[in-house]
Amino acid sequence: MKSMNLSPIRVGLLGIGTVGSGTFNVLQRNQEEIRRRAGRGIEITMVADLDVVRAKAAVGAGVQVVDDARKVIANPDIDIVVELIGGYGIARQLVLEAIEAGKHVVTANKALLAVHGTEIFAAAHRKGVMVAFEAAVAGGIPIIKALREGLTANSIQWIAGIINGTTNFILSEMRDKGLDFDVALKEAQRLGYAEADPTFDIEGVDAGHKVTLMSAIAFGIPVQFDKAYVEGITQLAAQDIRYAEQLGYRIKLLGITKRAANGIELRVHPSLVPAKRLIANVEGAMNAVVVHGDAVGTTLYYGKGAGSEPTASAVIADLVDIARLHMADPEHRVPHLAFQPDAMSDLPVVPMSEVVTSYYLRLKVADETGVLARVTGILASLGISIDAMLQREADDVGGEGATQTDLIILTHNCVEAKMNEALAQMQALPTVLAPITRIRKEELA
Ligand code: NDP
Ligand code: HSE
Repeated sequence: MKSMNLSPIRVGLLGIGTVGSGTFNVLQRNQEEIRRRAGRGIEITMVADLDVVRAKAAVGAGVQVVDDARKVIANPDIDIVVELIGGYGIARQLVLEAIEAGKHVVTANKALLAVHGTEIFAAAHRKGVMVAFEAAVAGGIPIIKALREGLTANSIQWIAGIINGTTNFILSEMRDKGLDFDVALKEAQRLGYAEADPTFDIEGVDAGHKVTLMSAIAFGIPVQFDKAYVEGITQLAAQDIRYAEQLGYRIKLLGITKRAANGIELRVHPSLVPAKRLIANVEGAMNAVVVHGDAVGTTLYYGKGAGSEPTASAVIADLVDIARLHMADPEHRVPHLAFQPDAMSDLPVVPMSEVVTSYYLRLKVADETGVLARVTGILASLGISIDAMLQREADDVGGEGATQTDLIILTHNCVEAKMNEALAQMQALPTVLAPITRIRKEELA
């Protein structure tokens, strides 16, 4: 019980928007239980935000509010700086300055860590401080803790996750309610799921940041977002969601990282997933991450990946960890990226052209003799084997006298470069009447 007599650990918050206000509120509400777990109180004593009036209204009297984040960093009474501003600009400078000032840092900023993580973790290692980032991946789901600690016995084989709530919400609304993309996006923004710049969500960049962090922790490689393949959901058509369903699949934006023969795969793109998989049934803004380890087999983590209090839950978990561990010798803490800094691997990230996966293809073709033979002939000549096929009257040209039809093909596994070659050859056929849709397919078995 000795530790319970320690004075509270003092926290300075940079940015009190959606996640910052959730963090403040949950810490207030659950302070007694958190104190009993952490062994001492955790108090936000200083807040910096550009909007001082709004910030004061959010925290009330008793907390010092300033408009200059550097005043928080310079305050010798602050033990932990929580960065909840976002972006790679001022946030990077503030985090580096906080580390330099000897403060521990908690951040939910996946963009910052996926791009500048190597610099930030190295600085933290030099100064002997912790940089904790549970909230940066999958919001309230403790996936960083699971990967870094719970699964530490395993050689991780692959991870596949729905790690962007905004896009999963949009895809669910489009499938269930037939909503237009734009309407669903506006609703996601209203609910506070979307990033300040929603292109990061819909173009797959946010999921790319998160899978980059998971990949580094799972495989002990540096964070290298610049090597990730990133494709969003803006090109997805409603009819592909429907056709996928008829074939027994759902379309999800997946972040995937996988140990392959030639390195580590690191990619985000829409994927067909068998409808019978649990992850295919994750709807709305919920997130889910499947991790396959050689010893444990397949594990699944599910929960809210965004929003004020779910994300605050992860921020506060980091604060409790720091409160418990900050007295420990830095060399004996859990390493930032799970592996000891001098034991990182230089396995390369596999270029997308070398990734092996299976595919869904939709071709709008002239409904005439020999078309199918020419298409399948190209696939066969490149050694690409067909798994299933559908032919449907195209929505926009169907009905009596239709001369065009949608041809939907599911393939078995092949290397992406071969598929690119097949697509170029098929696209050049005069009977292929529109750009071919290609969506990758993951069985996640
Ligand atoms: P918000 O935009 O709601 O909050 C950011 C806050 O920071 C705003 O109040 C903003 O003030 C303030 N701010 C901006 N610049 C400065 C500055 N120089 N000094 C002090 N304060 C500043 O963002 P969120 O809370 O949604 O996100 C915060 C972080 O958490 C981001 O990195 C985000 O990616 C991450 N995150 C968010 C999740 C969510 O569900 N929202 C989930 C998981 C992670 P002003 O409004 O006046 O500009
Ligand atoms: N914009 C993100 C999402 C917030 O939609 O998942 C959580 O990181």
